[in-house]
Amino acid sequence: MVVSFLGTKGGTGTTTLAVNCAAELRRVSGMPTVVVDLKPGTGDVGLFLGVRSKFTLLDLLDQLTWLEPHVIPGMLARHDCGIDVLPGAADYGRPGTADAADVEHVIDTLRRTYDYVVVDAGSALSPCSAAALHVSDEVHFVANPDLPCLRNLQRLRDLVRLAGVPEDRVRYVLNRTSDMEVVPLREIEVALGRHIDHRFTSDYRTVAAALNAGVPVSTLRPGALRAELDTFARAIVSRALAAA
Ligand SMILES: Nc1ncnc2c1ncn2[C@@H]1O[C@H](COP(=O)(O)OP(=O)(O)OP(=O)(O)O)[C@@H](O)[C@H]1O
Ligand SMILES: [Mg+2]
Repeated sequence: MVVSFLGTKGGTGTTTLAVNCAAELRRVSGMPTVVVDLKPGTGDVGLFLGVRSKFTLLDLLDQLTWLEPHVIPGMLARHDCGIDVLPGAADYGRPGTADAADVEHVIDTLRRTYDYVVVDAGSALSPCSAAALHVSDEVHFVANPDLPCLRNLQRLRDLVRLAGVPEDRVRYVLNRTSDMEVVPLREIEVALGRHIDHRFTSDYRTVAAALNAGVPVSTLRPGALRAELDTFARAIVSRALAAA
């Protein structure tokens, strides 16, 4: 199953959720899982997991034609939590427009080896992110409960539909929620004309502690955010099993 995360603007927590979702999918299912950093530039996925990898997405894009799919896991860095990591590279132009078709090919190749392919698609709908969303079974829009995100969510919904992603694959995730919302959940759902699928509590201390240690939130002490990530991953696993 391919699960992608797309931010409705920068800094909404797309990388945080992609990395932790991958770790949770692995923990809950016990199945081979890889997290892919699609954001052009250095990307944050490797940093969030404290993983240094010589082999990056750009290497895979460039070598895919002569690599056998089964050798790919051996080339990726593995985090202690069991997930393989395909980080971005320090090349600011890539992956770019010319890589879009190969991005689709890379993800299709990874899904043959991994039960769960989790994609951090960044927060811009580019030809590459659109290609990734196109081959995703689930696309999670990551929004914060604020007005810019809500406005962008409506735009993104139309753009993603135009990019050929069926609406029933798209799910809405609200990150950094709290009891003192600027925009209450009910108003958000009325404005969108649709329900929010998942909510994640705002807990900067936990997220920052995980980031500093290069570990997923699930390895830290129990809390609301950890429980929400667990529920989120279990729901994905049951949908994957139902689809299979
Ligand atoms: N649930 C949360 N509670 C509190 N802070 C959070 C939460 N999720 C993410 N953050 C914080 O928000 C900031 C941005 O997170 P992250 O880098 O995951 O966002 P992003 O959407 O990937 O950003 P970018 O657009 O730079 O790629 C980080 O400081 C992170 O620790
Ligand atoms: Mg990010």
